[in-house]
Amino acid sequence: MADKAITGEVVKTYAVWDRNIRWFHWINVICVLLLAILGTLILNTEILGVSGGGKILLKELHTYTGYVFFLNLLWRFTWAFVGGRYARWRAILPGGRGYGKALADYIKGLRRGEPPAYLGHNPLGRLMVGMLLLLLLVQGLTGLVLAGTDLYKPPFGSFIATWVTGGEAENLAGLRPGSKAFVDPLAYEEMRRYRKPVVTVHLYCFYTLMVLIVLHITGVVTAEVRERSNLVSALFSGRKTLTKPPLDG
Ligand code: HEM
Repeated sequence: MADKAITGEVVKTYAVWDRNIRWFHWINVICVLLLAILGTLILNTEILGVSGGGKILLKELHTYTGYVFFLNLLWRFTWAFVGGRYARWRAILPGGRGYGKALADYIKGLRRGEPPAYLGHNPLGRLMVGMLLLLLLVQGLTGLVLAGTDLYKPPFGSFIATWVTGGEAENLAGLRPGSKAFVDPLAYEEMRRYRKPVVTVHLYCFYTLMVLIVLHITGVVTAEVRERSNLVSALFSGRKTLTKPPLDG
């Protein structure tokens, strides 16, 4: 913690976000951006005139990015059990003792134009982070199922491949994504019926995520301007600067 005087105001900086959290955040930003772009391309292959092979390639690129995204997310979930104070579930999810009052006080403070300071996420931030993490988890899990149903890729690919081919070695060896050769038509149709709600959840979760990401960025920028905190640069340096004592310090 270091004291500095800027225009006569006492400003303190605190180490908040550890290296794991910073790496998680920026890897997640890059992966979600890539996944959203590739997902939008997959959705619009017909309009864009992309061939069948091109669509499979887009799905493969999307899936490999998805693996990086999902492992990064799993690492963050693990860190929420073993990391430092501001990395823990208690500091990032809404709920727990006193949360309702803290949220009400924070909103009252926002209305007055002087919200209380927090080192970790403020109560509204916890609500947003909780929703984002939940949606990212659902998106990751449904994506892994689709990687199996569409491309026969891990972790469910070999189970799906056995399902649609009947498990014969010759059929398994000939099976290709996007082709109905070597599949049992009835088993394939059955698999597609089970897949349908999964792709629907993946799609609507994507739309919801895009809306939440816009709100998340708007919230961060507004807080940065109003509270004169350094939320964005803290995710590079790990250090937060506050002009008043934090409630969670
Ligand atoms: C934040 C993360 C993700 C976003 C924003 C996202 C977005 C999308 C979108 C918009 C589509 C097109 C949906 C459609 O065609 O109806 C899609 C399809 C797909 N996604 Fe994701 N996705 C994410 C994560 C993942 C992950 C982690 C995987 C797997 C490792 C994955 C695998 C797939 C596959 C295989 C498809 C093709 C499904 C189809 O035929 O449409 N996705 N994704």
